[in-house]
Amino acid sequence: MTSYDLILRGGRCVLPWGEEEVDVGVRAGRVAAIGDLRMAAAAEVVDCKGLHVLPGLIDPHVHLRDPGDAAVETIETGTRAAILGGLTAVFDMPNTSPPITGQAALEAKRAYVKGRAWCDIGFYVGAARSNIGALAALEANEDVCAIKVFAGSSTGDLMVEDDASLERVMRSGRRRIAYHSEDEYRLQERKPLYAAGGPHRLHAEWRDVECAFLGTRRLMALARETGRPAHILHVSTAEELGYLKDFRDVATVEVLVNHLSQTDEAYDRLGGYAVMNPPIRDARHKEAAWAAVRDGTVDCIGSDHAPHSRAAKERPWPATAAGLTGVQTLVPLMLDHVNAGRLSLGRLVDLMAAGPARVYGAVGKGRLAAGYDADFTVVDMKRARTIEESWIVSPCGWTPFAGQRVTGWPVMTVLRGHVAMREDSVQGAPEGRPVSFHG
Ligand code: DOR
Repeated sequence: MTSYDLILRGGRCVLPWGEEEVDVGVRAGRVAAIGDLRMAAAAEVVDCKGLHVLPGLIDPHVHLRDPGDAAVETIETGTRAAILGGLTAVFDMPNTSPPITGQAALEAKRAYVKGRAWCDIGFYVGAARSNIGALAALEANEDVCAIKVFAGSSTGDLMVEDDASLERVMRSGRRRIAYHSEDEYRLQERKPLYAAGGPHRLHAEWRDVECAFLGTRRLMALARETGRPAHILHVSTAEELGYLKDFRDVATVEVLVNHLSQTDEAYDRLGGYAVMNPPIRDARHKEAAWAAVRDGTVDCIGSDHAPHSRAAKERPWPATAAGLTGVQTLVPLMLDHVNAGRLSLGRLVDLMAAGPARVYGAVGKGRLAAGYDADFTVVDMKRARTIEESWIVSPCGWTPFAGQRVTGWPVMTVLRGHVAMREDSVQGAPEGRPVSFHG
């Protein structure tokens, strides 16, 4: 009799070719069979009747702050949040303290995550003016998802903002580069206008549409000229989304769940807990983001999980720290959008599994298909639940989505064949590993 380590029985599986109610057999951490496995034996069988089985969802944009401030977040807590929230991998940003900009820091981080990460993890390496010559070698590390360029300033001091240096970055190496696109010169030019402070909604005036759009126009010109593929992170304006459709030869696009879920009314409701870069904007941009999800402009959705202490979030604007937590709430919020009819479950999987795997070249991830890693996000599309702050495991302890009722919830997370989360309970040991990327 054929035997497996694990069989997921009778779930509605979101396969690359459509949805089917089938069994999934796992052997040695990989998908071994998809079909009717009633005659097979297994060490463990999980009844998934009435549930949807998705390929493991990935958050390609998190800031886990480690090394940094353990009172805010660590690799252990951030990846625990990810597993609880239904994610099987996260790609972690380099603006830690100290930042990840060299081989030694990367190797230290790789060694450190062993035995501490609950989900799989990919590493960004930050570009700085001082390491441009080393970027080609750095991006060749198997577990590096991409070089990250802050072309405009945000948290930390990683930045490459001038065209000559950006062009040097693009000519050093060949893989897709991920960009924070806001024009630093315009940001600095407008900063004095807001020095006196004021309501949090001024954040979106200071970092206006033109800041982001100008940044993206400059990056696209350089990407075309150098032929270097670009991934524009957290695209936040209707203008950029329109523009980027003409750059599919060089550019892929990420949109954040925040920009799909919130508008500028959030500033009045949440104060500093609505402040992030690029900012939350008015409804016109949110509608444009949904249109871009529907017409295929968007490749990936991320959370930009960027925890800060409550004290830093509560400083009066413009001293308010920019960044919102989100790794634990990403999947519930997106499932709620599916239930509200804003996208299909198939498109969600395209954006949150296949998309990041394709954009970054993750090996064995992104598809529920034979031979791929046995990473699954099992969801109950009917489960209604309120997002509560007590559920959040990031030590900073807050979410901008507290009190929001959603329908659709991750009930089980399977990481390379072992059940890592079931019904709010994390199981086993932290067995997350570095993700491998095609060079
Ligand atoms: O709001 C943000 N916070 N945007 C970023 O680009 C960085 C992030 C952080 O690290 O706090």
